[in-house]
Amino acid sequence: MNAEQYVESLIQDDPLLEKVKEGIRQEGMPEISIAPGYGQLLTLLVRMTKAKRILEIGALGGYSGICLARGLSEGGKLISLDMNAQFASVAKRHLVMAELGHLVEYRIGDASASLQKLTEEGALFDLVFIDADKGGYPHYLEKAIEMATSGTVIVGDNTLMHGKSMNPDANSPSVLAMRQFNETMTSDPRLEGMIIPAYDGLAIARVR
Ligand SMILES: C[S@@+](CC[C@H](N)C(=O)[O-])C[C@H]1O[C@@H](n2cnc3c(N)ncnc32)[C@H](O)[C@@H]1O
Repeated sequence: MNAEQYVESLIQDDPLLEKVKEGIRQEGMPEISIAPGYGQLLTLLVRMTKAKRILEIGALGGYSGICLARGLSEGGKLISLDMNAQFASVAKRHLVMAELGHLVEYRIGDASASLQKLTEEGALFDLVFIDADKGGYPHYLEKAIEMATSGTVIVGDNTLMHGKSMNPDANSPSVLAMRQFNETMTSDPRLEGMIIPAYDGLAIARVR
């Protein structure tokens, strides 16, 4: 048993999230939802920060969307972006199943375009979760900072890219983009951040 499996064995079974995973499998969608331990952490982060305005970049089948929306308090809202309309409709179905459907708005299209529109609308967020195409992370982070206030929490998943982030021989554009993202999350003067090196690496930063 590795460290992640040990910690997961302590977490209570979650039949609803199991159903979501099953729904994703049945739809033939990629099984790349956030790890259970980090899903639990997302709910905690929302509760601890009392975030009311949450932005998710990368909806897939709604697994992380449920984890985020579960932590929302009265009057809270989740905006979730995905370029794939089928994925977003599966995600919506799963949030409705979790009785959280009224809290979420899906925006379909390339995340860069949706983020531009949100910026133009003057949107502000208390928590942003980045979990889409890895090459886009640096840009998504800049947009997240643009739509942040002091104290906004920014989270990014898969920041270790299964070891490529620290492999000097891996230098594809998406790896370079992720290194830039990781450097900004941990060292940019606008942020205070850290990367948890369990699972595939979760970066968490707070906007100063
Ligand atoms: C890793 S999955 C998200 C998993 C989800 N956050 C979860 O844990 O349940 C990545 C998602 O990002 C979406 N995606 C990839 N590139 C995108 C882009 N450029 N714009 C918008 N969505 C994108 C994919 O369609 C996919 O659903």
